[in-house]
Amino acid sequence: MTTTGLLKGRGVAPLFGLDWPIVQAPMAGGITTPALVAASCEAGVLGSLGAAVLSPERIRAEVAAIRALTRRPFAINLFVLDEPERFARDGEAEAIARLASWRARAGLPAQQPPARVCESFAAQLDAVIEAAPAVASFHFGIPSRERLAALRRAGCRIVGGATNVAEARAWVEAGADAIVAQGAEAGGHRGTFVGGFEEGAIGTMALVPRLVDAIDLPVIAAGGIMDGRGVAAAFALGAQGVQLGTAFLACDESGAHPNWKAALAGADTRGTRLTRVFSGRPARGLVNGFMEAMRADEHTVPVYPVQNALTAELRAAATRAGDIEAMSLWAGQAAALARPMPAASLVARLADEFDRAVGGLGGART
Ligand SMILES: Cc1cc2nc3c(=O)[nH]c(=O)nc-3n(C[C@H](O)[C@H](O)[C@H](O)COP(=O)(O)O)c2cc1C
Repeated sequence: MTTTGLLKGRGVAPLFGLDWPIVQAPMAGGITTPALVAASCEAGVLGSLGAAVLSPERIRAEVAAIRALTRRPFAINLFVLDEPERFARDGEAEAIARLASWRARAGLPAQQPPARVCESFAAQLDAVIEAAPAVASFHFGIPSRERLAALRRAGCRIVGGATNVAEARAWVEAGADAIVAQGAEAGGHRGTFVGGFEEGAIGTMALVPRLVDAIDLPVIAAGGIMDGRGVAAAFALGAQGVQLGTAFLACDESGAHPNWKAALAGADTRGTRLTRVFSGRPARGLVNGFMEAMRADEHTVPVYPVQNALTAELRAAATRAGDIEAMSLWAGQAAALARPMPAASLVARLADEFDRAVGGLGGART
């Protein structure tokens, strides 16, 4: 494998102090282990800790574990949410009843309503400000001006997720340093916070040039990028960086269950789709038994994070048992292109394939 390094130092690489303008996507739920984040950073890309469901104490512990493994810049990512007590718990009893047979199947006792449906966003953000990572990135919304100012005082660059032009403009207004353009192909939760989810389901091919033309900030393309061909396509559309989730989920250092990683290869048979049944918010994952069985409830389950809290024990039990029919198998539309390997090897391949793609050998994979 010979890399001439056409991608080296391009786009957002100098902004974040990287070798390559590549972001290992934050993936909440234990996927972005300190080992994955640090290996990505050491390979010269921006490793990102998905901290959305971590307590402030866990955020501190994971940051310490990352810093024990690397001195390179990394990102911490949060979901911008209201405080836990502000979420309406309507429809919870019915939702609990609908989950009863799945809990019985997993050997779990009858469900009690959870005391708290999510962590305190304010306390999580305090922990991020204290940790002062090189980059703080956000999904589902924009923190207040005061909180963004506190992050800047701590020395953080700010990256905002957008699924449409209105969201990108709102991030420009808030003073972001770069925007992640999350195309509809992307695995995991949709970040949409202005307008409806259906209108916000714009493909990466359409979204990236729209944002590049509409705003004067670097755009980082996310959604369906699995190899150097995808990276080259994103740069051809005007992106200054790429953020890959599913490709890094398949890496050796990721915390995804081995059965989940193995299921990526069968993505073309299972298919992926957006679903609300696991969390109450549209998210893309491999189709499995739980998604199929709960399909009629797509529009009646409680909103995020209530449904997410109600299914948490079930998903954890499924993960312990390796039962892929009841786990949330978040993955993007190009999941079948995933390649199991160490993160450093993935980065080297992406760089090499980028060179081949822009060199006119389109379609070559190494
Ligand atoms: C398992 C999984 C978990 C994710 N969790 C987060 C998250 O916590 N925060 C976030 O901003 N994006 C999250 N995403 C979305 C990614 O940031 C990114 O938009 C997406 O992975 C890009 O599409 P791809 O999976 O096709 O590469 C997640 C994606 C996956 C696959």
